[in-house]
Amino acid sequence: MDPALIDKYRQETSGTQNVIHLNNAGASLMPDRVRDTLFAYLQSESAIGGYETFALYEEELNRFYELAAGLINAKSREIAFAESATRAWQMAFYSLPFDKGDRILTSRTEYASNYISYLQVKKRTGVSVEPVPNDGHGRLSVDALAEMLDERVKLVSVTHVPTNSGLINPVEEIGQLLENHPAVFLIDACQSVGQMPVDVDRIGCDILSATGRKYLRGPRGSGFLYIREKLLKEIEPVMLDLHGAAWTSPDAYEMRPDARRFENWEINFAGKLGLTEAIRYALEQDAAACWNRIQELATLLRECLGDVDGIEVKDPSLEKCGIVSFYSLRKPVDEISDELGKRNINISVTGGNSTLLDSLDRKLDRLGRASVHYYNTEREIDQFIAELKRLL
Ligand SMILES: Cc1ncc(COP(=O)(O)O)c(C=O)c1O
Repeated sequence: MDPALIDKYRQETSGTQNVIHLNNAGASLMPDRVRDTLFAYLQSESAIGGYETFALYEEELNRFYELAAGLINAKSREIAFAESATRAWQMAFYSLPFDKGDRILTSRTEYASNYISYLQVKKRTGVSVEPVPNDGHGRLSVDALAEMLDERVKLVSVTHVPTNSGLINPVEEIGQLLENHPAVFLIDACQSVGQMPVDVDRIGCDILSATGRKYLRGPRGSGFLYIREKLLKEIEPVMLDLHGAAWTSPDAYEMRPDARRFENWEINFAGKLGLTEAIRYALEQDAAACWNRIQELATLLRECLGDVDGIEVKDPSLEKCGIVSFYSLRKPVDEISDELGKRNINISVTGGNSTLLDSLDRKLDRLGRASVHYYNTEREIDQFIAELKRLL
């Protein structure tokens, strides 16, 4: 990426002047434009009223759908706003009809919230929940998945990029395998959207959930859901309100035809507007170039970390993303993270039970997680490594 462009992105993000932010998988630094959009909306709410502000911004708030659709190559009517990736995912998952004996196939790197939901539905309905074995690189094995498929498989649900490693699951290959299988294909793209190009048509998924605050650089408390139009016709949201449906006669209601039937009437409108602006900002960039830059920086970070005495990089897989996870053999990672924080260097720590199966498989405990975005620099990585060496 052209260094002038990196400078421009940093100038457009004031936070880069305060901190070395290597916690982009936690929440990225917002571009100033996104912050200003949020402030302006909140200021207007306090100045003239919430409903009145909504009326002023209604057109822009509605632009959210075409922009989010453009980001993942979907149609506007296939997009719903949600207050988090988890809520988007849950609205879709709990709306799927399951019966005793149905099978849910999933990955061994699944996020805890998703797995807890599988287990709850298992308890309620008697479905079986079956993690697909990994391939030799720690990714979901497409060959193993092919062997497990039968007519009882109702859902294949996979996390694209897991919480705590650089791993990328082979979602396009899974999509190809499922092309002629009736199972619903659900992707948790919470950590991939905004980081790498994500195209729902290429992947062939039926449902995808994403968050605003991570690689999309939007505000906290924002996210979205994609549901393929064909599936929209087949499933009814597990919960409906007067926004998702109209009460048409004393005994009847009519659902909206589009994915917005999965939304609530009352939402965080400032957050939705902020996410709209963050997506617009992302769409102005060359997604492939940003993805290359993230991979380059992450490769450098892994190499540098690997050379630090007392640090073990724990990322499996061939192609790796911007999330770098590591063990410290000398000092607890929580202490390292706290100490770095005092020096304005942000990383995070992930607990073993956020991806329990993977943690048990690889005997992982608490891991340090340093995650880069395209606006980070090689110099920041050098400073982080120097500080880490000093701490150890
Ligand atoms: C893989 C994965 N899925 C889902 C989530 C939850 O996202 P949110 O907090 O926006 O609900 C996370 C959060 O870290 C995650 O790592």
